[in-house]
Amino acid sequence: MTPESAPVSDPATLDGLVDALTVDEKALLLEGVDSWNTNAIPRLGIPPLFVTDGPHGVRKVRDASGAFGLADTVPSTAFPTSATVANSWDPENSRRMGAAIGRESVARGVDVLLAPGVNIKRNPLCGRNFEYFSEDPLVSGAFGTAFVQGVQGEGVATSVKHFAANSNEDFRFVGDSLVDERALREIYLPAFERVVKDAQPATVMCAYNALNGTFCSDNRELLTGILRDEWGFDGVVMTDWGATHDRIASINAGCELDMPGQVAHNRAQIVAGVADGRIAPATLDEAVRRMLKLVGRSANGTRTPSVDEAAHAELARDIAIDGAVLLANDGTLPLAAGRASLVVVGEMFEKMRFQGAGSSLINPPSVVTPKDAFDRRRIAYRYAQGYRTLEAGRDPQLEKVAMDAARDAETVLFFAGLSDLEESEGFDRSTMALGTAQTALLEELLDAGANVVLVLFAGAPVELPFADRLAAILDMYLPGMHGGEATAALLFGEANPSGKLTETWTRTAADASSAADFDDDRISRYYESIYVGYRFHDKAGTTLQFPFGHGLSYTSFAYSDPAVQMVDGRVEASAIITNTGERAGAEVVQLYVRNNPHGVFKADKELRAFTKMRLDAGESRRVTLSFQIDDLAHWDVAQQGWVLENGDYAVLLAASASDIRLSVPLVVTSGSPSRSPYPAAVDAAYAVPPRAIPDSFPDLLGRPIPAGRRSRGLTLESRLIDARRSVIGTIMYRAVMSQVTRDYRSALALPDSLERDTRVKNTHFLVRMMPFQSLRSMAMSSGGVLPFHVAAGIADIAAFQPIRGLRSILRGSGASIETERE
Ligand code: BGC
Repeated sequence: MTPESAPVSDPATLDGLVDALTVDEKALLLEGVDSWNTNAIPRLGIPPLFVTDGPHGVRKVRDASGAFGLADTVPSTAFPTSATVANSWDPENSRRMGAAIGRESVARGVDVLLAPGVNIKRNPLCGRNFEYFSEDPLVSGAFGTAFVQGVQGEGVATSVKHFAANSNEDFRFVGDSLVDERALREIYLPAFERVVKDAQPATVMCAYNALNGTFCSDNRELLTGILRDEWGFDGVVMTDWGATHDRIASINAGCELDMPGQVAHNRAQIVAGVADGRIAPATLDEAVRRMLKLVGRSANGTRTPSVDEAAHAELARDIAIDGAVLLANDGTLPLAAGRASLVVVGEMFEKMRFQGAGSSLINPPSVVTPKDAFDRRRIAYRYAQGYRTLEAGRDPQLEKVAMDAARDAETVLFFAGLSDLEESEGFDRSTMALGTAQTALLEELLDAGANVVLVLFAGAPVELPFADRLAAILDMYLPGMHGGEATAALLFGEANPSGKLTETWTRTAADASSAADFDDDRISRYYESIYVGYRFHDKAGTTLQFPFGHGLSYTSFAYSDPAVQMVDGRVEASAIITNTGERAGAEVVQLYVRNNPHGVFKADKELRAFTKMRLDAGESRRVTLSFQIDDLAHWDVAQQGWVLENGDYAVLLAASASDIRLSVPLVVTSGSPSRSPYPAAVDAAYAVPPRAIPDSFPDLLGRPIPAGRRSRGLTLESRLIDARRSVIGTIMYRAVMSQVTRDYRSALALPDSLERDTRVKNTHFLVRMMPFQSLRSMAMSSGGVLPFHVAAGIADIAAFQPIRGLRSILRGSGASIETERE
């Protein structure tokens, strides 16, 4: 059999192949051979799959061993990251971007694109929020679905990630997310559900963390019960890189593909499991069949390589324009291009941060910074660097030059944001504040009376204690490689801002809806339950920096003449939206439903539909938004299903979660009477959103809370940083850190260039991420460099079992350790 005639969807061929494979070959087929390729079985003409990251571009690594350098990845369009795309509130942007990335994937021979990430932004400090869409499941689901449809429409498979409840980075390898069933069903799972049902992604990537006590890779309830049996998923589940815990449990749970693989221990487990009955042959065959279907789909699909690079760059710029959010404006923006005495301060003007760091880092063919875009327009300005983005400290000399330059300026454009040293995959932020060098200079300028417009580049909210003193704030989020062009177009009024926030901006991290339990220890208590983001703040009355859904325009919009009608179980709401200003613009119209105030605890209101309307100056149009009446149902833990409560609701048409323009009552009679399934203590604790962890959280969760203590020594499941409390842990920690620190230092020593910046980012990512790795995930992701039996042996020695440890190390891959030894 040749690769061309490789596995197809023809069941007879599939069965023939499954029968022809030995158990060893089946085990091989279910794992990667390196970070980006799965195993081939040449004897049967089964080709490998080539997989690659990631959400905002194709990160094709040239050489599997050199994954983290700019020069090592093939240039590809760096689109705005998901946070920015979602701020456009137009899922078509996600679809178009997905299709473009799909075409680039085809051209680069990619079979499976490891994207999109649809995790819910539970806390603003999560380092990876830039790669996710929203705190709201409807928004995340809509953008994720459109992206998958876009990519898969070009014949490339996707991998929706990270399934599920992966909301922090500091504990991602070892953490356990304790989420009550209702919060899971209403907040953390719906985006995955919608993508699976509406877009049929070819694969799903399970998360590193555990969910309610069981690692996602081993979680049968999640991977089979919910994903396959309830939602009808028929593709392949792959692990996140190094997420496998117990290969026998994971095969039985419905996790087919172990990535990046090359773990002899895991293959041996499969073979042993089949021999001794812990894995039923039919279970293994079913896993193999699914994998063969995926291989067949990639080998036999229609894929036409046609990439118009210039068009993709334009698309990246257009999405950046559509997703930028004008957070505040006293009328200073837009700027007149010929404005006298414009002073620009801040290194991000010439070194714009346009993407996040970690596995999604793209090597773009070109970058257009704001400076490039200003110069193309021949804008007259004076520029002062002010601070160094990749260095934490202040530079008095740079500050002095900036202050002198700004002295007589009519307007100061201050470019600021988060650096990759502060916000990245692999670790969480410890504060929402901007770096000291930026804030100190900005405050000095404000104290000196400057009229400052702040232009931000960051993938997540930042503290803005000086917001009221600024003339305007334009937040570009992470706008992709041509973000500078988008910035200039918006600042000078060639384009009109129309993005709105898809996450709440609290004033500080302490105000966040999950502030009482974030990154405390291995156990993440999702004690706030369904009250995530605006669902929390609306009801708690938090004073916010900016609400969910907020964003200004250079024009204004009026809402009038609302109407609501019910058509075949669908609620249709309409209103007239008028552009009352003098410029064309776009308004994101948000439809929330105010919940029935009785019965089971609920958020005050929830987003049920949205649309973006583009209107010329003075134009009026009726907009219609709709949702299923059943969307108003909540998950009832007693009935194990969705229950729609009868009662008084209201349809709200709004410009943001805090700017309700129209309200129409909605009486529901087709459901059931109100009834809470919870004990009284839970109802009492959750009547309003909790600011501390309620004593009744275990009752809501339905199980006791396990101890979250950090281990005292080095175990397979402890983070390296925590293992330093033992001698062997300290040795291991130092060995790993000295290697990655050396790489970081040599990156810092490189001459100033884009290549240096990227190497600094990538090596810094490892310096920050490695302390959070566990011995197990290192072994699972090392591609054989740290074999599992060696890791297990080290853990045994650390647990004062030297003989067993040495035996494990010497015996090889048949290591006895399978149990967790915390
Ligand atoms: C990330 C995934 C990514 C994978 C491969 C993991 O560390 O969590 O999102 O797809 O690496 O790079």
